[in-house]
Amino acid sequence: MKRVITYGSFDLFHEGHYRLLKRAKALGDYLIVGVTTEHYDEWRGKMNVVDSLMDRIENVRKTGFADEIIIEDHEGQKVEDIIKYKIDIFTVGSDWTGAFDFMKDYCEVIYLERTKDISSTILRSQKYKIIRLGIIGTGRIAARMVPEVKYVSGININAVYNPHMESAKKFAKQFEMNKYTNDLEELYEEVDAVYIASPHQTHYEYIKNSIKHHKHVLCEKPMVLKEKQAEELFQIAEENRVVLMEAIKTAYCPGFHRLLSIVRSGAVGNVCDVEACFTKLENPFCRELTDTVYGGSFTEFGSYTLLPILKILGKKYKDLEFKSQVAENGLDIYTKAYFTYDNALATSKNGLGVKSEGQLIISGTRGYILVDAPWWKTTSFEVRREDNSQNEKYFSKFLNDGLRYEIGDFVSSINGFEEKFPKLTKDESIALAGIMEKFLLKREQEKCG
Ligand code: CTP
Repeated sequence: MKRVITYGSFDLFHEGHYRLLKRAKALGDYLIVGVTTEHYDEWRGKMNVVDSLMDRIENVRKTGFADEIIIEDHEGQKVEDIIKYKIDIFTVGSDWTGAFDFMKDYCEVIYLERTKDISSTILRSQKYKIIRLGIIGTGRIAARMVPEVKYVSGININAVYNPHMESAKKFAKQFEMNKYTNDLEELYEEVDAVYIASPHQTHYEYIKNSIKHHKHVLCEKPMVLKEKQAEELFQIAEENRVVLMEAIKTAYCPGFHRLLSIVRSGAVGNVCDVEACFTKLENPFCRELTDTVYGGSFTEFGSYTLLPILKILGKKYKDLEFKSQVAENGLDIYTKAYFTYDNALATSKNGLGVKSEGQLIISGTRGYILVDAPWWKTTSFEVRREDNSQNEKYFSKFLNDGLRYEIGDFVSSINGFEEKFPKLTKDESIALAGIMEKFLLKREQEKCG
């Protein structure tokens, strides 16, 4: 009996999938089909899969070609399966030609010709119209966003805005974009959604204006610096039926998400402490160290260091205290925020012009988790216990600048998927704005004497 195996996502099941399975079955007597999990697809960089795993399995089953359906959930599984299921032939479409030649040591490898002019990607773009994105603000982070957008299907950058025409023009030229403007109305005519990457204090007006023009908004962190403003913006976003999302990249990356799941599953028992640190040495003349109203270490990095605290311990802290080291111009170059909860403590440690170890430690009654620097680009973490033979290390991907994950979620939210379990909730964004507000108030009071 000849045993054949093939794999795929089989999203939005189509003619190409059907023909592939039919021919795969004809290669032998028994066909096993591996269907990828969402987690594995995300890990290998395939974002925006539409159908659930169960639906995709059901669609494969309905063809009647599969004698057995298995789930593919990790790198290296194919070889394991070939040995485990005593496979004679491994087959996939010709878009993969050469990619699996290394498996010839284990079985025969056959690339079947791919059906022309059809793919899940094409169907996704027909089902959901391509989102036209406009960029507001052309600083460093905006420049890092442009290449990342290309990795997410269903969204395209159409135009860029900067109040200074020359800056908009320069940015458009650098990234070969046709449309640039210093007129917001003009930008809104060209786009369905905006990514706001302007200085912190301008976010509120840009967000409000964009929502009023019925544009979905992805806004850099900190989204706003006042709790009431955040509440108001989420309210008007809801009224105008648009998505409003705060772009804290860590919140959306697979490694951090996995870390939260492990904590929630009780791996370290009851969490008693969360300590998060983010520091950077910067040119003393940079905007972040010279803008005496909005600069400083806490407004710059607080969104990152507060994220695990709010995610793990929640928003209901009993007490919050800030301690800062300030420069001559009154800006904090180093700030620690101390949280007291009913059953836990937490510290957010931020430095701009001060360097420390950028790690995250989550301590509990059964052990602790150490996420090495840079924890905000979570690629690995270790659960450590009293008996260190019980320690476990976890690995995840964080590709390039990691902005693709938040863009992927933005697209999914616009298309109506992420609503039930957003990775960063509106209440968390509101709480973050509230903490920023408390900090800025205290800093202002201290400056005045
Ligand atoms: N396939 C095919 N012909 C097509 C599309 C896919 O033969 N027109 C094959 C692929 O080569 C693979 C299997 O079907 O062996 C499952 O592919 P999958 O990646 O799930 O489908 P795609 O349509 O290629 O998905 P996407 O556009 O998301 O990459």
